[in-house]
Amino acid sequence: MANVRASTPDAHLPASAAEGSGRAAIGVFSISDAVGAEVRGVDLREELDAATIEVIHRAWLDHGVILFRDQHLSAGDLVRFSRCFGELDLGPTMAWQAADQEFPEIFIISNVMENGHPIGFLGNQEADWHTDMSHTAIPPKASTLYALEVPADGSGHTGFMNMYKVYEVLPSPLRSRLEGLHMKHDPAHTLQGELRDGFTAESFEDLEAAEGPVHPLVRTHPESGRKALYLGRERNGVYRAARILGMARAESDRLLDELWCVVRQEQYAWYHTWRVGDYVMWDNRCVMHRRESFSADLRRVMHRTQIRDNVAPA
Ligand code: SIN
Repeated sequence: MANVRASTPDAHLPASAAEGSGRAAIGVFSISDAVGAEVRGVDLREELDAATIEVIHRAWLDHGVILFRDQHLSAGDLVRFSRCFGELDLGPTMAWQAADQEFPEIFIISNVMENGHPIGFLGNQEADWHTDMSHTAIPPKASTLYALEVPADGSGHTGFMNMYKVYEVLPSPLRSRLEGLHMKHDPAHTLQGELRDGFTAESFEDLEAAEGPVHPLVRTHPESGRKALYLGRERNGVYRAARILGMARAESDRLLDELWCVVRQEQYAWYHTWRVGDYVMWDNRCVMHRRESFSADLRRVMHRTQIRDNVAPA
């Protein structure tokens, strides 16, 4: 049985569980008023019992983002722990990568170059606010990131935003306007505006005709039952991001701009300053994230997994 202690009066945590087993206690400590908690007292290399996994699962559901410090995870540990919460997506492979990678579930996020090739994705640029894989029919329920190398100056923060709270803070007439609205998301472009395999520059020109997954603008979280604003990514010059069905383009753009304006205020955001050994897992159904740019001269290497959902946003 897990030992449990919490900084906040989390009713789900059995207070008596902290006594008696001799193991270090698990603590769940809220990190900010916006989103996030640090989970202490767990070594993720260990075989964790069902009670411990349940405490971690609960903390993730309640806080949207959970952080574990000072971990020492091999790629195998990362995959094994991530699998405690569901099946994993396979990471994208780069053309120059060996096809026989031992852990194809790991996505490498890095600016490091080896033999003239980047070892991972995203380079050192900013990645703007987004939800992972909203251009797919069933986006992952969780994404996780483990820090192997981080810039010594602390740059390259990752921001997380609580989309339950962003939805709740909207003026009620605006919330009412969103009821029942759905958006078609652009599957053709990456966050950086690059074309994905199989698409051409014209692929999302005609928004009516284009193929793309349709998701509600406000989704109800399948586990918490709470409503969250679900924007995917912001429309910009290249990335069309989304179009609200049943609206003329200009009207859709206006409404989306209004919602993104609220996002940009970052009222419910928290930024994490990475240390080597940090492991973060976020709920992709109610949290958006962004990554700040950092100097190309500094090394940053992260291993990431994505945990599949089994229901489409609804
Ligand atoms: C991402 O998943 O968008 C990247 C996050 C990061 O590199 O911190």
